[in-house]
Amino acid sequence: MPLSEPQLQRVLDDIAQTAAASEDKGKVADYIPDLARIDPNRFAIAVALPGKPTLHAGDAHAPFSIQSVSKVFTLALALGKVGDRLWNRVGREPSGQAFDSIIQLEQEKGRPRNPFINAGAIVTTDTVLEGATPRETLGALLRFVRAAAGDDDIHMNESVAQSEIATGHRNFALAHYLLSHGNLRNAPELTLGTYFHQCAIEMTCAQLAKAGQFLTGVPGAPRMVSQNRVRRINALMMTCGHYDGSGEYAYRVGLPGKSGVGGGILTIVPGIASVAVWSPGLDHYGNSKLGTQAMQTLAEKTGWSVF
Ligand code: DON
Repeated sequence: MPLSEPQLQRVLDDIAQTAAASEDKGKVADYIPDLARIDPNRFAIAVALPGKPTLHAGDAHAPFSIQSVSKVFTLALALGKVGDRLWNRVGREPSGQAFDSIIQLEQEKGRPRNPFINAGAIVTTDTVLEGATPRETLGALLRFVRAAAGDDDIHMNESVAQSEIATGHRNFALAHYLLSHGNLRNAPELTLGTYFHQCAIEMTCAQLAKAGQFLTGVPGAPRMVSQNRVRRINALMMTCGHYDGSGEYAYRVGLPGKSGVGGGILTIVPGIASVAVWSPGLDHYGNSKLGTQAMQTLAEKTGWSVF
């Protein structure tokens, strides 16, 4: 039987308490200097049930850097713009490699495995940017995210974006490699400037959970893309959303999710809810350590799973 809202609230409170008491919180990303300063003890979880109040526990109104979770929203925009033509430039297979790996890009002649590894996300952003300026593209992305969340108080952190522009050497390598294979349409600094700003969007867990509601397919949730596309984006989140840790997330949580190195994870419970969790410490795949643990507990306690 589904949990009542008070029961679900108690589960969230327990999860936040367990996270606070946990000794091994993982390691905060330090390759982006601005992220290295985040307190690893922060923790939040929020569950958006379309048509009902959002439930939460922990620092659910504290903004954090959504980083790669933004790739879900850019993918929705890119599919809206070019439809299935996107797949001429990016694949739909799990990579089994780290998010910033370049190995497959060389072996597979500049066509990234999927839109969530960095190389694929750079191509996806490049697709949205084509024929527009970075300012217009980022404006469209912010409008999309704000409309999805039903909240205009969502912004980009310029300092985080500049911090990554100054240190994102691997992403520059990926972009130049893509360009050498004819799979980048804009100048690398324009595409990457847009990509780094997209990653620097800040949201609270409550906002991110609401912004994910369009992927639940629940009638009454904001309808940002077609139902067919909702299914496809969820499939990609399930198979590729956690990079080389995607199998592990599917095994432990059993739901489509997308992680970011800021420690956020957006998870979709198709037909039921959108869940955001934030704990800045990462596991060795670069996914939130306690965030994954929290989602595993939530899935076990609620019975939520696509399997
Ligand atoms: O491109 C990067 O390296 C970061 N802006 C985003 C990477 C990321 O979030 C990977 N996810 N776990």
